[in-house]
Amino acid sequence: MTFTREFFTFLSWTAIIMILNCEADRCPPPTGLTYEWLDEFTVNVSWKKPRGLPDDSDVKFRVESIDDPSKLKCVSVGHFTESFLTEKKHSDHWTYNIINKSKYCNQSDESLPATITIRTRKPRAELVKDFRCFIYPPRMDCSWIPVNQSLNLTLSYRICGHLEEDIKSIKKCDEPYVHGNRNGCYLNTSTVPENICILVETEAVMSTFTPNVLEVAPPKLNITEEGDYLKLSWSPGYGNSHCWTYNICYTECDKFEICPSTNGETTMRVPYDKNCLYEFKSQVSTTDKCPPRSSRMSDPVIYGTNKLPDVTLYVVASVIAVILSICFILSCYCFRRHSAIICPIIPDPSAIFKEMMMMNGNREPTTGSLYTPVPEPFEPCRITVPENSSLQENS
Ligand SMILES: *[C@@H]1O[C@H](CO)[C@@H](O)[C@H](O)[C@H]1NC(C)=O
Ligand SMILES: *[C@@H]1O[C@H](CO)[C@@H](O)[C@H](O)[C@H]1NC(C)=O
Repeated sequence: MTFTREFFTFLSWTAIIMILNCEADRCPPPTGLTYEWLDEFTVNVSWKKPRGLPDDSDVKFRVESIDDPSKLKCVSVGHFTESFLTEKKHSDHWTYNIINKSKYCNQSDESLPATITIRTRKPRAELVKDFRCFIYPPRMDCSWIPVNQSLNLTLSYRICGHLEEDIKSIKKCDEPYVHGNRNGCYLNTSTVPENICILVETEAVMSTFTPNVLEVAPPKLNITEEGDYLKLSWSPGYGNSHCWTYNICYTECDKFEICPSTNGETTMRVPYDKNCLYEFKSQVSTTDKCPPRSSRMSDPVIYGTNKLPDVTLYVVASVIAVILSICFILSCYCFRRHSAIICPIIPDPSAIFKEMMMMNGNREPTTGSLYTPVPEPFEPCRITVPENSSLQENS
């Protein structure tokens, strides 16, 4: 009985002394910080637990990245692995603070940080520019412009991540090619990875990154006639069908372009006017929820011809008729207006006719060009009265 009680008292005291110890001069920070590169992308950082703390479960370490505060994490073992890309931060070193957070210490009183700076195996240097990849599932064709043509570059690639199988998946570029000012390489992957990590290195320097541009080919359109419609179809993008949005742009009879988009569907029907020429273009991109991929707009695909339909002929004929009539009316008007110049005054036959009809009285005064008889000069009649008519003279 007494032994158990004494043992219990001893344990309590030990605990109290430990707590007092921690409170008096904080928790000791982790020691023996070191790191090891598992490959050019992944590093394993490890350290030793501070002395005087009980082992295992309750010990926790806070890991703070000085370069990227969002990478804060809490680990309960004395190591962690992390992947780094030199071109993400244009840097070849990363600094971490590791802080001891044991529950045997005062909760608010963490240890002072132990700092470690991780450096890449070779110094970083920008070796390639404009690195872009084209996806031909499951292969990729990546190309770049070398910064210094005279340097002998080696390119390796693997699925990003720090799991063992990711690290094991690293491959060297085995089909390099040169095309104009660009160098390139075909990457053989079993499936198209969500993210691919690239290592470019020389004897002395290195650079690690993910491609900025991952392009896919635009959908290849297949066009068939289906009654009054044109049916467009194309093969779906690789992988998850929910990832893709297709944009089909077309013009009909050279009219303005319309660009309906289909959500994941790989067919489309367009009302077909047989007298029109159609020009189709296609483009594909991924939805927000999937890794960003897109294609350029395809070259146009032409279907049908622009024919002048019968209706158009009628319209053209009517327009010509209208124009001709307007010309005729205008010329008549001009002719009448300037008839005095073009022709001398001619009598209006209708007026003469009218006059003839209205011979018997109620003759209205007519104006204008009606015929007015010109008075002829005449000799005045002289009546000579003989002498013998004196009778009249006398009266
Ligand atoms: C990282 O290093 C620690 C300590 O050396 C080791 O126990 C652990 O297995 C290593 N992790 C990996 C993924 O190699
Ligand atoms: C390119 O690399 C060669 C060989 O290392 C070096 O002598 C030369 O100075 C480099 N040129 C440039 C522009 O960096």
